[in-house]
Amino acid sequence: GTGIVTTDVLIVGSGPAGSSASLFLSNQGIPNIMITKYRWTANTPRAHITNQRTMEVLRDAGIEDQVLAEATPHELMGDTVYCESLAGEEIGRRPTWGTRPDRRADYELASASMPCDIPQTLLEPIMVKNAAMRGTQVQFSTEYLSHTQDADGVSVQVLNRLTGHEYTIRAKYLIGADGARSKVAADIDLPMEGLMDIGGSMNITFKADLTPLVQHRPSVLYWVFNPGSNIGGLGAGLIRMVRPWNEWLICWGFDINGEPPVLDKDEAIRIIRNLVGVADLDVEILGYSLWGNNEQWATHLQKGRVFCAGDAIHKHPPSHGLGSNTSIQDSYNLAWKLAAVIKGQAGPELLETYSTERAPVAKQIVNRANQSSRDYKPIFDALGVTDAITDQEFTEKLQLRKENSPEGANRRTALRAALDAKDYEFNAQGTEIGQFYESTAVVSDGGERPALTEDELLHHQKSTFPGLRLPHAWLGNAKSKYSTHDIAKGTGFTIFTGITGEAWADAAARVADRLGVELKAVVIGEGREVQDLYGDWLRQREIEEDGVILVRPDKHIGWRAHAMVQDPETALSAVLSEILSID
Ligand code: FDA
Repeated sequence: GTGIVTTDVLIVGSGPAGSSASLFLSNQGIPNIMITKYRWTANTPRAHITNQRTMEVLRDAGIEDQVLAEATPHELMGDTVYCESLAGEEIGRRPTWGTRPDRRADYELASASMPCDIPQTLLEPIMVKNAAMRGTQVQFSTEYLSHTQDADGVSVQVLNRLTGHEYTIRAKYLIGADGARSKVAADIDLPMEGLMDIGGSMNITFKADLTPLVQHRPSVLYWVFNPGSNIGGLGAGLIRMVRPWNEWLICWGFDINGEPPVLDKDEAIRIIRNLVGVADLDVEILGYSLWGNNEQWATHLQKGRVFCAGDAIHKHPPSHGLGSNTSIQDSYNLAWKLAAVIKGQAGPELLETYSTERAPVAKQIVNRANQSSRDYKPIFDALGVTDAITDQEFTEKLQLRKENSPEGANRRTALRAALDAKDYEFNAQGTEIGQFYESTAVVSDGGERPALTEDELLHHQKSTFPGLRLPHAWLGNAKSKYSTHDIAKGTGFTIFTGITGEAWADAAARVADRLGVELKAVVIGEGREVQDLYGDWLRQREIEEDGVILVRPDKHIGWRAHAMVQDPETALSAVLSEILSID
């Protein structure tokens, strides 16, 4: 042989961005190789809160049930607690992640998939395993070194870290999903805005049975307000559930402008016992590390045949749980476009829409995650501890909220308002599933996006306006029930129409044939295979029965027509050609 390995797509990294990209590409039948530097996947729990949009994506990829089997379920996620220490006095509680009864309805109405909590150590192996079963060549202990690209492909130099052997992988496209210190992003000189290392944090993972302190207020996050909790870190001290209720991760801050703290086993135990509030707590330390908070995003995500996804393009603190979620959603956006181009169904210009659509998301979620950290300040202000200098002063002032005085009463009102305002981090369904795309892969229906009637961060806009996510509605027939998201398969395009719109379905079959694209037609109506059993679709579709909604493989609306047109075949063909950048 030539010593050169060839594939269609080479993915660097097996984290959430990389492993999901390989899974999605394998689902599309695209040959791909995924390399990763280490002998296995993530070795610390890292990201965990998995939002509805990600669960929809994983459902589409056929692994939602496997994820739920290992996840902490939705009902245990949500009594977010604010306290002086876990065993100490409580400051307040707020049901979160859609567990508060009024918000639960919003979450259930928006999606067939509810949020869950799965540590990265468990999620990555599920994605890697399924990718490998479906065709991905996984190469562990293999490091990306460098690449060169030309008109036909990318030649990537890699190192087998076991044998010391260097070799070349020749791919049509390269995805750098190699994390916050991405070498691929550096090698293609992606333009970045914002700053790295703006705050100091430490993670301590440990085992301890905390059941008696938490089972009556089940949550994944317990926030601690005690001396030092307002320095660095995530905005307050954090005890995070990894596995209920015996495995945990503490996030504690330090001043990044001072000497880095000495973190050893004894210090880790001291911090744990302090935050838990049990002086002789029995703990088993699993690990600890220092890390820096970042607020940085890429403004362009591609150079020629090389793309970056995940933390390589958005670097931010874990507040709000956006890291892994956004990384998987990046890959979901990119994978169908690469597949369409590789299969010859789309022009290469389609690939530019990855940047157009995802770079604004990267910026938005980096800012949002950092704002979520900053939003702890009003809580410290309400408690009256913001300016406390010594630990003793902090502890004394923490008692002010209990005073029988007008000031005490004002403090209590301000405190509740500050705690409720954390909904922007913890009940922010709009941020989680409300992404909106504007690019050449979205074709206007000639109208304006409907005005928002609710806060766009807290609530998502249910609409079929082109660029928005397909609204979820339960459909089915006497024998089955499924979501609009279940019948619009991620491997192709789908149109939705009604009985008087049947001409769209005939047109779609001819267009699919002619363009060689997968285009499924769903005619919703009485006596048809797919019925609008609850009337949910009628209430959400925003078009006449004989209109049409075109859904892209990533379940965003590509186009819609409000009613039947003279020549549906020409109309559909023109729109698909525009979306797919076909001349
Ligand atoms: P990710 O960093 O997961 O993966 C990068 C991949 O690239 C790895 O597989 C690595 O081996 C590989 N790689 C890197 N360089 C390479 C090279 N030269 N050659 C080959 N492979 C290479 N988020 C959150 O929401 N809550 C949390 O509590 C935490 N906690 C946390 C702790 C720690 C220690 C870290 C590092 C991160 C977190 N995060 C987090 C962030 C979260 O983990 C992060 O957003 C996602 O993992 C990003 O996924 P990616 O796939 O983009 O990168």
